[in-house]
Amino acid sequence: MSEHAGSGPEAEGQFAGRVAVITGGARGQGRSHAVELARQGADIALVDRCADLATVTYPLATPADLAETVRLVEAEGRRCVAATADVRDLDAMIGFVDDVVAELGSADILIANAGVSTLGSIFDMDAEQWSETVDVNLTGVFNAMRSVAPHMKRNRWGRIIGISSMMGRSANPLIPAYCASKWGVIGLTKSVAHEMAHSGVTANVIAPGNVSTDMLHNDMLYRLMRPDLESPTKDDVAGVMATLHVQPVPWLEADEITAAVVFLCSQGARHITGSVIDVDAGASARFTA
Ligand SMILES: NC(=O)c1ccc[n+]([C@@H]2O[C@H](COP(=O)([O-])OP(=O)(O)OC[C@H]3O[C@@H](n4cnc5c(N)ncnc54)[C@H](O)[C@@H]3O)[C@@H](O)[C@H]2O)c1
Repeated sequence: MSEHAGSGPEAEGQFAGRVAVITGGARGQGRSHAVELARQGADIALVDRCADLATVTYPLATPADLAETVRLVEAEGRRCVAATADVRDLDAMIGFVDDVVAELGSADILIANAGVSTLGSIFDMDAEQWSETVDVNLTGVFNAMRSVAPHMKRNRWGRIIGISSMMGRSANPLIPAYCASKWGVIGLTKSVAHEMAHSGVTANVIAPGNVSTDMLHNDMLYRLMRPDLESPTKDDVAGVMATLHVQPVPWLEADEITAAVVFLCSQGARHITGSVIDVDAGASARFTA
């Protein structure tokens, strides 16, 4: 485990004295959550794989990305512990969280955010692609929850947030593994909400629409959206991306997902558990319930 612990000024803000564990925290939405929770007083523990995966056709985060998130958290005056590890490895996740508790004192908030998106038809998807997607997006969320649960139960306080997707509440062709994994995050989190209800711990899901991160802005997705073009650009795909939403916007910014994270971690949300918050420019208006 690589550690970067800064000793900043006394924490201020609604999360002062709390420690937030964020998986997939090197960049994108995870980085946005880390910096905002730090701004509001939390110390931060980041874990990210920081290496590509065989069946994921866009680059994942790098060690430099992780170092940059650490720098941004420390710039907020908070402590930050960071490790390069894979959420698919339960022993590594338990070891990481135990080290975080030893170093920072507790593990109060979990944002189970690490995820990958893969495309593949049911007619030709192979076992490796299926299992990489489901293992990262679903088993990885389980591993993170399993790692923090004993600490939260002991402290009788905790906030667990699983990051699903509008594709965890609906479906599209050519992303069966992603859809299945994101539907799974909702079932898993609701079950955990039951188990933790007597321990002062809430467990909820955020289901984002399109979010402007590297998971969205890459050739794989651009070509899916515009198969009629050889090299589609951001402008070429914006119109198609907007059709996935109801409001006429192609994508949201990461800080819009962070706003829901902050709310679910707040004292005001203490009696919200087992819920799904859709932050998806109205895509959920198409869902049945
Ligand atoms: N971007 C979108 O349009 C969108 C929409 C809905 C939901 N989501 C979900 O939001 C979450 C965050 O994604 P993002 O948009 O910030 O994309 P991103 O690709 O920028 O971030 C994902 C992070 O997870 C890390 N990661 C991937 N596999 C890992 C593993 N096995 N172990 C540890 N870390 C791993 C990556 O290195 C990366 O830093 C994901 O769960 C994603 O499925 C994204």
